[in-house]
Amino acid sequence: MPTPSIDLSDLAPVIQSHAQKGRTALLPALYSVQDTIGYIPPEAVQFISDQFNLPPEEINQVVRSFPLFFSEPVSKTVIHVCNNPVCANAGADAVMKRFSLAVEERRAAGEPVGALTIEFAPCLGLCEHAPAMIVQGTSVARADSLSYEDIVAGQLRHPRSIVRNEIAILTANCGKNRVNNIMLYQAGGGYQALKKAIAAGPQFVLDEVKASGLVGRGGAAYPAWKKWSTVAESGASDKYVICNADEAEPGSFKDRVLLEDEPHLILEGLILAGFATGAAKGFIYIRGEYIFQYRVMIKAIEEARAAGFIGEHILGSAFSFEVEVRRGAGTYVAGEETAQIKALEGKPAIPHAKPPYPSISGLYGAPTVVNNVETLANVPYILRAGSTAYRKIGTDASSGTTSRTVIRARSGA
Ligand SMILES: Cc1cc2nc3c(=O)[nH]c(=O)nc-3n(C[C@H](O)[C@H](O)[C@H](O)COP(=O)(O)O)c2cc1C
Ligand code: FES
Repeated sequence: MPTPSIDLSDLAPVIQSHAQKGRTALLPALYSVQDTIGYIPPEAVQFISDQFNLPPEEINQVVRSFPLFFSEPVSKTVIHVCNNPVCANAGADAVMKRFSLAVEERRAAGEPVGALTIEFAPCLGLCEHAPAMIVQGTSVARADSLSYEDIVAGQLRHPRSIVRNEIAILTANCGKNRVNNIMLYQAGGGYQALKKAIAAGPQFVLDEVKASGLVGRGGAAYPAWKKWSTVAESGASDKYVICNADEAEPGSFKDRVLLEDEPHLILEGLILAGFATGAAKGFIYIRGEYIFQYRVMIKAIEEARAAGFIGEHILGSAFSFEVEVRRGAGTYVAGEETAQIKALEGKPAIPHAKPPYPSISGLYGAPTVVNNVETLANVPYILRAGSTAYRKIGTDASSGTTSRTVIRARSGA
C-alpha cells in the first residue's frame, strides 16, 4: 500500500470489519469513508481494494455509478434543492435564486461564507413539504420560509410526516409527530401476526397472503403470494428477502411516511416474508437521501432484536432471521429489483433482462423475494385481521387501501 497522504488509521478497523463480510459490504465501507472524510480519496480506494481483494478500478466503477458518492473533495455544506414538479410549483426556482444570491452577496462583502455548494436535485420524497431541500443530510421542509442564516445556524430539524386520510390502516399511527416505537407498536397489536404465524406455520402465511389478494405496491402489481411461493418451494439452502425502500419516483413519498413513522410494521412484514419463504436473511435497501429514516430503521431493528423478534430461534421456534439495512447512494435505477440486487452484492446498480426473475435467481443467484415497503407493511394486518377482512377493502383486482380512488370504486361513490 502506498504511504497514505490522508490518514486512514481511524477508518482502517471499520473497513477491515466490512471487508470480512465480503463484497456485499462494499457500499457500507464506502459510506464509512465518505461519512468520515467527506469524499472517497484514491488512498481510501486503494486501502479498500487491498482489504476486499478487488482491483481499484472495480471500486471506482462502483463509486462512479452512485451519484451520492464523491471521489473529489466537496464543499463542507452541500444543499440539494428539489426542482421536480411539486417543488417547482411551490417555488423551488425562487428558493435557489434567493440562497445563491445570499451567498454571492456575502462573498462580495468579504464575509467568510465558507465552502458551500447549492445544487438542484430530483424529487427528494418530501413532496408534502414542498418546496423541499436537503442540507448536509438533513431534510428541510418549506424551504421558501427559511433564510440563509437559518441554514448557516444549522438548527434544522427533520420535518415530520403529514398524513390526512379517511381510512387509515397502514397509516393509523403515522403523522402523529413521533416514531411508533416497539412499545407503542406492540401495545397496538404489533408482532401478534408474527406470533400467530409461528404458531400456525409458513403454509398458513402463504395461504393467507394468497387469499388476501395482496398485489405488489412497487409498481407492477404482481401478486405477492406468487413470488413468495416460488421462493418457498425452491429447494435452495440460501434464500433472501429484500424490502425495496429505494422510493425515488418523482412525487412518491408513501414509503417514506411508513419508514419514519411505522418502522416495525415494515419490519414485521419482512420477518413474515422470511418465515413464509424459509429465508434466514432480510435486507432493507433504503434510498441514500432517507438518512433520518435509515436511522429510524436501525433503531427499530435493535428494538426488535432485543425483544426476540429478530435473531436466533425467534419466539423459541426453529426460525432464525437476521435483518440488515443498506443505504443506497442516489441512483434511481437501483429501485429496479435486479439492479438493487447488484448494489447489495457491492456492484454497480445495473439491471439485467428478466428472466431469470429474482424469485428464481436473485441475490448471489439464490431465490430472492423483493417487495416494496408498502407491500410488506400490509402483511401484519392481513394476518392479524384475516384475509377475509382484508379482502373487503379495495377492489377485486386490488385489495387493500391502495388509494382513495380504489376505495371509492368499491363503495360505488
Ligand atoms: C426504473 C425502476 C425503478 C423502480 N423503483 C422502485 C422503487 O423505488 N421501489 C419499489 O418498490 N419498486 C421499484 N421498482 C419496481 C421493482 O423492480 C420491483 O418490481 C418491486 O420492488 C417489487 O415489489 P412489489 O412486488 O412489492 O411491488 C422499480 C422498477 C423500475 C423499472
Ligand atoms: S417533488 Fe420535490 S420532494 Fe418530491
